[in-house]
Amino acid sequence: MRKHEVNSILIEYKLEELNKNQQNLLQKAHYICSVAYAPYSMFKVGASLILKNKQIINGSNQENVAYPSGLCAERVAIFSAGANFPNQIIEQIAIVAHTNFELKKPLMPCGACRQAMIEFERKQGQKIEIILQVNKENIFFSESVSNLLPYAFECEELKK
Ligand code: THU
Repeated sequence: MRKHEVNSILIEYKLEELNKNQQNLLQKAHYICSVAYAPYSMFKVGASLILKNKQIINGSNQENVAYPSGLCAERVAIFSAGANFPNQIIEQIAIVAHTNFELKKPLMPCGACRQAMIEFERKQGQKIEIILQVNKENIFFSESVSNLLPYAFECEELKK
C-alpha cells in the first residue's frame, strides 16, 4: 500500500492586507458581478482577471432558459482572455458572488471552471493567483489554480 497526498494551501487575509492592485481587481469583480445575467438562480458571480500587460478582463455568469446552455463567470472571463489575448499571461483572477442570502463561505469555483483555469496555467507555464472574497472583511488567496484542483486531469499525448 502506498499513500499519495497533495497539499492544497489557501491563505486567509483581511481585505486591507491585500495590495492596491488586488483590491482594485476585487472591485472590478464586484461591479461585473452586479450586472451578471442570473435570472434563474439569482446567484450572481463575477470574475475579473488581470493580464501581464495590465489589461483587465471581466466575466459574469450568463444563464439561459435552457439551463445547461449557461456559463459560469470564471469561464466567461478566462475564455474571453484566451480569445482576445491568446499570448498574454494571466496573472490573477478575483472571484466574487452576490446572493439574496448571506454567504458564509467564499464562492469556490466549480470543477469545470477549475479545469478550464488549470489549462491556462499549464499553457502559459506560469501560476495564476486566485482571490476569493469570503465576506466583507475576509479573503481567501491561492497562489495557483493547482491548489483548487489537485490530481487534475492531464494527458500529454493529447497535445501531440
Ligand atoms: N456559477 C458560477 O458562475 N461560477 C461557479 O464557479 C459556480 C456557479 C454560476 C452558475 C449559475 O449561473 C449560478 O452560479 C448558480 O449555480
